[in-house]
Amino acid sequence: MQDYNPDKNLLKERIILITGAGSGIGQAAAKKFAEHGATVVLLGRNERRLEETYDQIDAAGWPTPALIPFDLEKAPKEDYYALGESLYQEFGQLHGLLHNAAKLALLSRIDDFDPETWNSVIQVNLNAAFLLTQACLPLLRKAEDASILFTSDQVGRKGRAYWGAYGVSKFAVEGLMQTLADELENSQIRVNSIAPGPTQTSLRAWAYPGEDPTTLPQPDHIMSNYLYLMGPDSKAIHGQALSAPAETQADISST
Ligand SMILES: NC(=O)c1ccc[n+]([C@@H]2O[C@H](COP(=O)([O-])OP(=O)(O)OC[C@H]3O[C@@H](n4cnc5c(N)ncnc54)[C@H](OP(=O)(O)O)[C@@H]3O)[C@@H](O)[C@H]2O)c1
Repeated sequence: MQDYNPDKNLLKERIILITGAGSGIGQAAAKKFAEHGATVVLLGRNERRLEETYDQIDAAGWPTPALIPFDLEKAPKEDYYALGESLYQEFGQLHGLLHNAAKLALLSRIDDFDPETWNSVIQVNLNAAFLLTQACLPLLRKAEDASILFTSDQVGRKGRAYWGAYGVSKFAVEGLMQTLADELENSQIRVNSIAPGPTQTSLRAWAYPGEDPTTLPQPDHIMSNYLYLMGPDSKAIHGQALSAPAETQADISST
């Protein structure tokens, strides 16, 4: 969907929760959704970074976001359910949930992979996505149509040496997406996964310290499919593993 050119009100009056909204792809998605009319709920661990996203959206005159400092690794399950409850009190429904936050932490062969790090990566990338989905499903069921989007990675679609817990967690996220999609087959909620290609973020720089980041697209240049999958134009897309190609220079210049 590289040449997707949606209406500027595509997401008007929609409430969309984004995890990891304080940096990188999550921040770009939050801004893109807000630019198209959504009220975005910004969730992340680092409050200062969330406030930066908030301020940028506010300064642009887009709908005022909500901000939720939340540690997906440390929070007990009760905090997830309390979060769902407070979103229900505040908004009554949810039209979109973008599971974007992720932890990479360690690249190592399986022989040497530190088990505690393994658990913490699985907690953020998989268990948190499960708990947050569970907490948000009642709200998503209240919306006329809703979209759940899990963030995957190429190393979660074909195994690659040394990607350890991160790669395995992304395989599991694909499994969670497929299982949930099958369960919600006859509902108004669509469920898909998206795998960004190499993108200029701190997670990528950590994994590839020798790479020149300026050779990679910036997060706001891979947003077409995020927008398409969050909005009503993708109502028929369900249970699919998709990618987020970089927009061409012509696409970028025209936005
Ligand atoms: N960049 C790429 O080339 C690439 C390629 C394939 C897939 N991806 C995927 O794209 C998604 C976004 O990553 P990114 O590249 O944009 O990297 P990023 O800028 O490092 O973003 C990761 C986000 O996850 C959040 N996060 C990590 N641990 C958390 C926790 N315990 N609680 C709450 N939030 C937490 C971070 O929030 P804080 O800053 O608040 O800690 C941060 O905003 C990830 O799912 C990643 O796997 C990226």
